[in-house]
Amino acid sequence: MSLLVKGGLVFVNGSFVKKDILIGDEGEIADIGASLKGDETFKATGLLVLPGLIDPHVHLREPGDTYKEDFVTGGKAAIAGGFTTVIDMPNNKIPTTTNARLDEKKDLAKKALCDVLFHFGGTDDNFAEVKKANPASMKLYLGHTTGGLILRKPDSLERHFKEFPKNRPIVLHACDHSENEAENLKETYKSITCFLSLAKEYRRKIHLAHASTAHEITITKSYPLCTTEVAPHHLFLSTKDREKLGFLYKVYPPLRSEQERIMLWNSLEKVDCIATDHAPHTIEDKEEGAAGFPGLETSFSLMFDAANKGLVDKEWLVKAMSENVADIFNVEGKGRLRKGFAGDVTIIDPKKEWVVERTELQTKCRWTPFQGKKLKGKVRTVIKSGKVVYEDGEFV
Ligand code: NCD
Ligand code: ZN
Ligand code: ZN
Repeated sequence: MSLLVKGGLVFVNGSFVKKDILIGDEGEIADIGASLKGDETFKATGLLVLPGLIDPHVHLREPGDTYKEDFVTGGKAAIAGGFTTVIDMPNNKIPTTTNARLDEKKDLAKKALCDVLFHFGGTDDNFAEVKKANPASMKLYLGHTTGGLILRKPDSLERHFKEFPKNRPIVLHACDHSENEAENLKETYKSITCFLSLAKEYRRKIHLAHASTAHEITITKSYPLCTTEVAPHHLFLSTKDREKLGFLYKVYPPLRSEQERIMLWNSLEKVDCIATDHAPHTIEDKEEGAAGFPGLETSFSLMFDAANKGLVDKEWLVKAMSENVADIFNVEGKGRLRKGFAGDVTIIDPKKEWVVERTELQTKCRWTPFQGKKLKGKVRTVIKSGKVVYEDGEFV
């Protein structure tokens, strides 16, 4: 059965236009135009029709930490947040650092409602493994992370730059050990600078994960093959929220000052993508000092609400959450509404006002640093491979 998405404002070739989209039996976009006909019709009048969003940075915790999240709950959270594809990080308790583990993860992820791709963790001794793998990227941790995946020997960094296949980016979690803000920033800039000089030497694509300050973006712009992402929590929260968040406050990189937060907004349009860094932990683990925030279900709306208020350009935002991510991580046939591409579509009600409520979340951890926040603009319907999988808060 083909599906016609009719009468919406559709994001094609970088702008919103009134068009219909026809998704064929095979789940791919068959046509985009006017007065098309399909077996079934979805009326999108008054709604925005976007390519299924892609999140380059999530921690779905399976295998190893499924009491925090798993591919079923994380996949539902992704869909509810408008993401039809996510790229999962390797730092599980059982880290994704061998091909056997990558295969196991791929198998486990089949039960997710969204598509799941994978970053591969680089360690001090898995050079042969990463060469055989074909992940979305290789992720290198030079700083603290959940699970303790970290590169310890300086020589390993260079060897990975030399040996990892050049058609894939290397992703950096910069060094951020110090509790002192100024020191922490110094370490961060230093490790990014080192990463950039290796990238220049070996002429390869690199990507900076969760940039949290404008200066990081300035530094990375010195090298055209370096891309960056920013997570919404660094745009909406700062050290000012320490008291309000209490034991929920900790995240890597740490929340920065109000001044840094505002400067980050001013650099945002130089950034390539928005990443949720969805890092779910139970309340009990947070009380014991776990770092990270869940973000899949709030990120798009937070950013869209900000775009409505003129803080960022709407067209930039859609690209930063779809096609730019697809381009950076070689996600083929996704990220754009285009004939022959996947029939993955996220439909937004731009006028819907809602309040973030933790009890309504799909993530297993069921809390959010944005509890009670009023937002305008919400994911209304998600179509995955031509099938409506989510509508008005319900899974179909
Ligand atoms: C992430 C996690 O919990 O896996 N936590 C976080 O604070 N961002 C780890 C990470 O992104 O490095
Ligand atoms: Zn990280
Ligand atoms: Zn992360």
